[in-house]
Amino acid sequence: MLTFLPISATFVANNDKETPIPDRTAIVTYKSVPAGELSELGADTRFVYNEGWTETIACALPATQRDHYYRNGLIPFFEHLGPEGWLRGRQARAGGTAVQDDFGLLLNYGADCIGAVGILEPDGSRLIAPAEPNVIEEAAALPGRTLSGVQKKLLAFRGEKGFEPCIRASDPATHIAKFNREDLPTLVQNEDLSLELGREILGDAEITKAKPAVLAGIEGLALLVERFDRVDDEKLRLEDFAQILGKPRGREFDGKYHSSYEEAATVITRFSARARIDLARYFRLVVFNLVLGNADAHLKNFSLLETSEGLRLSPAYDLINTLVYPDYERTAALEIGNAKRAFDTLDRALLEALGAAIGLPAPEIKRSLDTLAKGFSGAKTLEFSARIQPDDFRIAYREIIRGNAGRIFA
Ligand SMILES: Nc1ncnc2c1ncn2[C@@H]1O[C@H](COP(=O)(O)OP(=O)(O)OP(=O)(O)O)[C@@H](O)[C@H]1O
Ligand SMILES: [Mg+2]
Repeated sequence: MLTFLPISATFVANNDKETPIPDRTAIVTYKSVPAGELSELGADTRFVYNEGWTETIACALPATQRDHYYRNGLIPFFEHLGPEGWLRGRQARAGGTAVQDDFGLLLNYGADCIGAVGILEPDGSRLIAPAEPNVIEEAAALPGRTLSGVQKKLLAFRGEKGFEPCIRASDPATHIAKFNREDLPTLVQNEDLSLELGREILGDAEITKAKPAVLAGIEGLALLVERFDRVDDEKLRLEDFAQILGKPRGREFDGKYHSSYEEAATVITRFSARARIDLARYFRLVVFNLVLGNADAHLKNFSLLETSEGLRLSPAYDLINTLVYPDYERTAALEIGNAKRAFDTLDRALLEALGAAIGLPAPEIKRSLDTLAKGFSGAKTLEFSARIQPDDFRIAYREIIRGNAGRIFA
């Protein structure tokens, strides 16, 4: 048990004067029922389960320990519920909090997060959304809802007008709409193609359901990703690997890169209800990402999902061939064999060693690599019409995959 420190106030510099911010508290809900209390104690934070509550709400916060104390920051599990890049800027501005203030962001926007855990103001108050100039900003600033991830995204649902962004508290957030970036106009198409390739090679059930569609009132195509952590009105537990490993997000949001594919696999060994099966699924997914050319398969892009048999590796999401974008990282997101590896150095021996290190038997590793090799070489998803333009991004997309597959499966 961690020691309890006295409550103090936090001081921040403000125009050369020191302004005290009173320590804050929040109600933590699990499947919309209050399960505990989160509080700030100076720079530290503490989560305490409510008396009588017995169910564990997160792998990193076992209920056998009633009191979880964390020094110098917000407990990573909660930190990772908050928004990153695009959405963080908007929710910080609309809610009047500092961009780095995770606690404040969660009090305003954390009532309904990804997964089963939510954050509420202890007095039941709710932020009143300021007027916004357009529907995108309005949806981003809707109080009581947030999600992690760097890219431009909104919560959405299928309404009377087709897909619509959630702009009212009563709109069911059944989908995540992901948009192109001005500097990356093929992002939606890339992810759609990569998910389709994943379905063909790994199987339908292994990949999140998603399709490109227009969102009412918003120009251009978005990728509408169906949430698997919502079944009708029920919130299913969904925890990403950064949350489970308790990795602080980092000031630059780089905590999710400070790990290895071997360390990530320990999440499955420790918490999956079917560890042997899920380790093999995880191995195939990691290799798929490496052949795909996804340099962004970091800890938050793997999760455990609540199922009828317990926590299991969730379907794959956020699959993108990032190597088609020349300005992007050329190394894999996580270490393999104690080093960050450039894609052009990945080979079969390294991946066989990875498989062995995470505990897979040699015949299983061989079978997985052979099946993947066959899947990539015969992939119908990579057969494009003869009329495809030479500058179509899919030409480079396929070349990168063929290069990676050639090296990795040789
Ligand atoms: N189908 C899904 N069902 C439930 N939750 C999902 C689903 N897809 C993604 N998520 C959650 O939403 C988060 C953000 O989604 P996603 O990773 O697609 O966004 P991103 O902005 O592209 O991420 P990144 O920061 O890795 O680029 C994920 O980390 C995961 O927690
Ligand atoms: Mg992601």
